[in-house]
Amino acid sequence: MTYGHFDAAAREYHITRPDTPAPWANYLGSPAYGAIISNNAGGYSFVKSGAAGRLIRYRFNEQDKPGRYIYLRDDETGDFWSASWQPVGKPLDAYKSVCKHGTGYTVLESEYKGVKAEVCYYVPHNAEREVWRVKLTNTGQAKRRVSAFGFAEFTCESYYEQDQVNLQYTQFITRTYFKDSFILQTINENCLNAVNESRVETRFFGLAGAGVDSYCGDRAAFLGKYRDYGNPVSVENGKLDGTLNYNLNPCGALHTKLELAPGESASFAFLLGQKREAQAKDLITRYADTALPDREINELKTFWHGKLANLTIDTPDERFNNMVNTWNAYQCFITFNWSRAASLIYCGQRNGYGYRDTVQDIQGIIHLDPVTALEKIKFMVSGQVSHGGALPLVKYNHNPGKENKPEDASYQKETGHPSYRADDTMWLFPTVWKYIAETGDVNILDENIPYADEGSDSLYNHLLKAIDFSLNHLGIHGLPAGLHADWNDCLRLGANGVSVFVALQLYYAFEIMTRFAAHKADAGTEKRMSELKARFGKIIEERCWGGDRFVRGVTEHGEVVGKKTDPEASLWLNPQSWAVISGFADEGRGKAVMELVREQLNTKYGARLMAPSYRKHAFDGALALLFNPSTKENGGIFLQSQGWLVLAEALLGRGGRAFEYYLESCPAAQNDIADIRLMEPYVYSQFTESVDSPFEGRSHVHWLTGTASTVMVGCVEGILGLRPDLNGLRLSPAIPAGWSGFTMEKVFRGKKLSIKVKNPNGKEGGFTKLYVNGQAAEGNYIPAAILKDENEIVLEM
Ligand code: GLC
Repeated sequence: MTYGHFDAAAREYHITRPDTPAPWANYLGSPAYGAIISNNAGGYSFVKSGAAGRLIRYRFNEQDKPGRYIYLRDDETGDFWSASWQPVGKPLDAYKSVCKHGTGYTVLESEYKGVKAEVCYYVPHNAEREVWRVKLTNTGQAKRRVSAFGFAEFTCESYYEQDQVNLQYTQFITRTYFKDSFILQTINENCLNAVNESRVETRFFGLAGAGVDSYCGDRAAFLGKYRDYGNPVSVENGKLDGTLNYNLNPCGALHTKLELAPGESASFAFLLGQKREAQAKDLITRYADTALPDREINELKTFWHGKLANLTIDTPDERFNNMVNTWNAYQCFITFNWSRAASLIYCGQRNGYGYRDTVQDIQGIIHLDPVTALEKIKFMVSGQVSHGGALPLVKYNHNPGKENKPEDASYQKETGHPSYRADDTMWLFPTVWKYIAETGDVNILDENIPYADEGSDSLYNHLLKAIDFSLNHLGIHGLPAGLHADWNDCLRLGANGVSVFVALQLYYAFEIMTRFAAHKADAGTEKRMSELKARFGKIIEERCWGGDRFVRGVTEHGEVVGKKTDPEASLWLNPQSWAVISGFADEGRGKAVMELVREQLNTKYGARLMAPSYRKHAFDGALALLFNPSTKENGGIFLQSQGWLVLAEALLGRGGRAFEYYLESCPAAQNDIADIRLMEPYVYSQFTESVDSPFEGRSHVHWLTGTASTVMVGCVEGILGLRPDLNGLRLSPAIPAGWSGFTMEKVFRGKKLSIKVKNPNGKEGGFTKLYVNGQAAEGNYIPAAILKDENEIVLEM
């Protein structure tokens, strides 16, 4: 079944059947004020943190309710419906709707019995409030009397968990008031006049551009006894009864009555935010200008489309174009902004940025917005401890120079993270490399950045400290210890057991540092790094090569994980792809292990993280055993790893394979099997259930996942072959032989590049000629120095 399609020009996804197999969501706002909204207007809003700044209520794991509901009622017949199909849920033969998810806004259009409703939900650019702009039109032949009701269910307090569980407290701290055009909710309001004003919170739900005919501030009164969001008694009655909340559950509900002549429209807006009374009043006055929302929505489009325009591709595959140009890119910004904090799955209890998660997320936006990327790079580097390891979680209120370390009991208590992970700082190498290669900003290596606990150092020395950390934490055979986890949260290899994934990352880190040191003419470091690379290369060859595959690790007791003879988990994906990415495996070895991956791990929805799944033979630290077979780390298709797989195949020049793998797990390519995949066809998931599951193909954990950035890198550097380095840009596309070519518009170091790739001979990789502004160039390399403001580049494969 198909529920919708992409609108490439508008950068939107249109959902034409509202009964999607799961809530299909979008994100609004910025880190200052965020909102998540489903295609049926479900979801929630928060100031800064989904956990600690929650404004409206959402019940996890209960479909997508409640949400930002607008009820409509025919005041002649009493029939009522909602501007989103749910929560009232009229029969779909009579109720028509389209949900248009765009970049930072969502439009819900519906038509029912001659009344057309168009609601645009958005958070204005750089603002801390949200707007539900409503336009109602009478599409019939007769005059209509229609009532519109806006409804928002406030949380009793900002801390989401307290709001849900501590009812003996939270229900008694809040009340609501009616103030002419808005409902004002106060929390701990007595403190306003007395001891501690900062404890007081006030929120409002208002109506601008139309008069309020009735109101309600109490959820129970709004819904009525034994009723639900689908049939509130007050909507049924056509009037809100004016009850205000004093204890129990607050809400904002406002009603306006309209008379619409045939063809006539009315526009107004509901507003929501955490504001003081005077600010709320002021905003409602401003939004009496019903043209304001249009200007604000355009501003949002300009903002997002401007960022996305820094790379635009036009290939023969529309699915690929839609993902790279808009949806995968937009998801990268969303993960960059919200890490793993707020979605319909994540409740946001984590009060910070996971180290590895965010350092990887940054990679997804570097090619589009390196300036924003750099801020976050510096922030994350300041989460590194002075001995080189990283805080597994960098808190939102991170205070560089003053933080406790993971070895301190206080840090563990505050964050729930007991100790170091082996891979955290290893992600800095590809991320910093990508940033510097994209921008040419090598001087950033000299910038002084604080450590989390004490002192500060240049970025260059921070990176060297990261290497020291690994060298100071070696286990069996002198390989990097696995510690509490490596990239895989479910591998506890400990202080003596070792991680092959991290060994390969470290190998790659030596290479990056060799390049940086060479550039800085730091001969001592250059020599040391290349010696270390050779030394570790030798150990990897001796200890990590299992004859026909790279093994995954060695346990504390010396047991090798991921060898051919293992009854379970005998082949692991990441060490194979990373052997290629890190540069450790030569072409022959790389191709051979990739062949094995294809034979033993690949499925129609992507390659499994490992196989066979653990059932009976897991070692002590293999937490994957906790999951059902073919699920998550236990032999599921972990989608982040597909990005590395795509990249590895592309680096080997095998465009056909790279693209085939890409399509296996590409959301847009699964648009027509939404009932199998369940999730949004424009969003990557964390994982897909695989062959052992009765629900093979079902995907989970939408939006906030490392998949977004890793697949993006696989596309940009891998398939599209945009591979910048310190001095310029190498073009090495790896595409299906069937593509006769493609074009890209890229902004690179402030210069415009119009790149045309021609593939007359049906190749999958490599090149024959490169022309830059009509001049034949050497190899496939474009030195940054020869670029003009605008450049015509032609690469012939
Ligand atoms: C999830 C976590 C990430 C981890 C991965 C594999 O994506 O957010 O930190 O590396 O799972 O276990």
